[in-house]
Amino acid sequence: MRHITIVGVGYVGLVSGACFADLGNDVTCLDISEERIENLKQGIMPIYEIGLEELVERNVKAGRLHFTTSYEEAIKDAEFVFIAVGTPSDVDGQADLRYVRMAAESIADVMDHPLIVVNKSTVPVGTGDWVANVIRNRRPDVPQFSVVSCPEFLREGTAIRDFMHPDRTVLGSTDREAAEQVAQIHLPLRSTIMITDLRTAEMIKYASNAFLAAKISFINEIANICEALGADVKEVSYGMGLDKRIGHSFLNAGIGWGGSCFPKDVKALAYMAEVEGRNPHLLHAVMDINSDQRRAPIRKVKELLGDDLHGMTVGLLGLAFKPGTDDMRDAPSIDIAHHLMQAGAHVRAFDPVAMPTAQPILPEVELVDGVEALADGADALILVTEWNEFKNLDLARLKSLMRHAVLIDGRNVYDPAFVREQGFQYRGIGRGTNGEGVH
Ligand code: UGA
Repeated sequence: MRHITIVGVGYVGLVSGACFADLGNDVTCLDISEERIENLKQGIMPIYEIGLEELVERNVKAGRLHFTTSYEEAIKDAEFVFIAVGTPSDVDGQADLRYVRMAAESIADVMDHPLIVVNKSTVPVGTGDWVANVIRNRRPDVPQFSVVSCPEFLREGTAIRDFMHPDRTVLGSTDREAAEQVAQIHLPLRSTIMITDLRTAEMIKYASNAFLAAKISFINEIANICEALGADVKEVSYGMGLDKRIGHSFLNAGIGWGGSCFPKDVKALAYMAEVEGRNPHLLHAVMDINSDQRRAPIRKVKELLGDDLHGMTVGLLGLAFKPGTDDMRDAPSIDIAHHLMQAGAHVRAFDPVAMPTAQPILPEVELVDGVEALADGADALILVTEWNEFKNLDLARLKSLMRHAVLIDGRNVYDPAFVREQGFQYRGIGRGTNGEGVH
């Protein structure tokens, strides 16, 4: 059993804390928000993540998982302190490190024994060295410590599984001994552990997210070409993915990527490159394609219903940036709703989980409590988030409720022939063999 402290109870912090506790460690999770910590003590999670509540409850009961707002209490027995606080980006894409600085300074203030400070937040390349300086400047007489970068690769919605079964664990430090100590607590995960220098570890995180975002933008570009040339991107993607060098994952065309990570990280990487006088052409194209892609469903609605959508009602199936989460950060649904409203449409939406988080972000959108209410009198439905419960819709029933039976499949989950048999006009993304080119 090792003593681990996690600073920040967002996705990364809370999932890592609960998982490390489940592996038999003594874990204290700290957050500066009294409300979050009070809620956690009462079993109320600050985020929606499948399996997290049960995992937290089990480990709290077993006495391995504790919550506090006090740095003294959190650090007194700690061997490792993980920094897992948010790093939002400003308008230029520059990561805002104020929470990382606050965490580092607070750790420095109370440290009374040697510590390994592990950075799990996604931070600009060079931040590990900066954190060490922040700690030393704050307290020149601070006890011995080392900084290790351990980027997180978990995905929302599958975070616990991703933590417990990682493809790899990347550790970076100038202190090899400290990195090996951190490797020890990851051994039960039985993944490949790579130890490198601090900056390289930090770069691996950005490069990985940027690559995945690029893969999606690539297939979305191919989707647009498929529409023009009469090919089906779903089949193209399947055929491409059979090549082991390409692979099937992150090759689904759709309405583009969103969430708290890809948009922020691609932008931040481009910013870091530009500050150093480099021109990251590809990263800019990856972002441009993504913002264009959010207009694709609107183009398709207009193609079928006309350019002026005044008096029309469009229903959004799903709002979260992907299934399995209530996260609305940079969700494609936000742009899609705004583009539709700009064209004059009345927008309605239903999401099984994300409506409370969506409400303040999209106050003009009418939130309804189910798929039938969404379809009632509507002129078009757009599948935005591919929740399982949207995959087998009772299309005959929905058609009977709608004014115009139009279905735009923003995630290519439906069989176009079947949807058409049910009397719908169907448009997917890049499914050009179905006579749906947008010219
Ligand atoms: C992403 C990475 O996948 C994680 O490895 C990383 O740890 C995390 O960011 C992070 O940096 O914290 P996440 O943002 O949870 O995870 O979501 P993903 O499952 O990667 O999906 C991102 C977006 O891409 C979603 O909007 C999704 O709908 C979209 N997507 C994904 C596609 O449009 N097509 C695909 O084929 C796959």
